Amino acid sequence: MHALIVVAHPDPRSLTHGVAAHLAEGITLSDAGHSFEIADLAAEAFDPRFSAADIALHLREGVLPADVAAEQARIDRADALVLVYPVYWWSMPGLLKGWIDRVFTNGWAYDYGADARLVKRLGRLPVHLVGLGGADAGTYARHGYFGAMKTQIDHGIFDYCGARVVTSVLFEAGPDHATAHLEAARAVGRRLFVTSGRYEATDAA
Ligand SMILES: Cc1cc2nc3c(=O)[nH]c(=O)nc-3n(C[C@H](O)[C@H](O)[C@H](O)COP(=O)(O)O)c2cc1C
Repeated sequence: MHALIVVAHPDPRSLTHGVAAHLAEGITLSDAGHSFEIADLAAEAFDPRFSAADIALHLREGVLPADVAAEQARIDRADALVLVYPVYWWSMPGLLKGWIDRVFTNGWAYDYGADARLVKRLGRLPVHLVGLGGADAGTYARHGYFGAMKTQIDHGIFDYCGARVVTSVLFEAGPDHATAHLEAARAVGRRLFVTSGRYEATDAA
């Protein structure tokens, strides 16, 4: 089994990159046969701007841009999609949002045609979401921020396309949080291809 791990953080020394690396290590620990590829969107200079070519494709008046085709091909090659990202303004960073905007196209992630019927096209793709927050658990709980993120991201994006969100965790700030998060990330990786049910934050703790 092969995982595509998408990381959206400009600093390779960040905790976000550390979490992605530990998650990848967990995948290789779980079974010698499993593999992964890390898509480092910042290092690869992925362009998140939704352009005239993207809207033309959306309206089924244009052709698939080459960079979008390449991203879709690496998702098509993967048995699981993992997103690792810092929380920016209680959501994903613009870089990752732009990746979704451009790559999860009408005609590939879903079909929404003239008859206004939605066909979900990513039913085969298990998704694992790992967000890192700079705020603590109390702040998230007080404002319901993580619930809002799940509504928007897990349901609004992935369920819309039919992809099953298997893991949805938020690593908040707290005492010794870096060490705990790196260990929890390794555990997510180890269980990536053995988890049948939904994997929540409490499982990672
Ligand atoms: C532009 C920006 C916006 C941020 N917004 C939030 C936020 O809304 N909530 C939060 O918990 N942390 C926020 N943070 C903190 C990041 O989530 C923090 O960087 C994260 O814990 C990951 O750590 P790392 O950057 O070392 O990987 C923000 C950071 C930046 C740079």
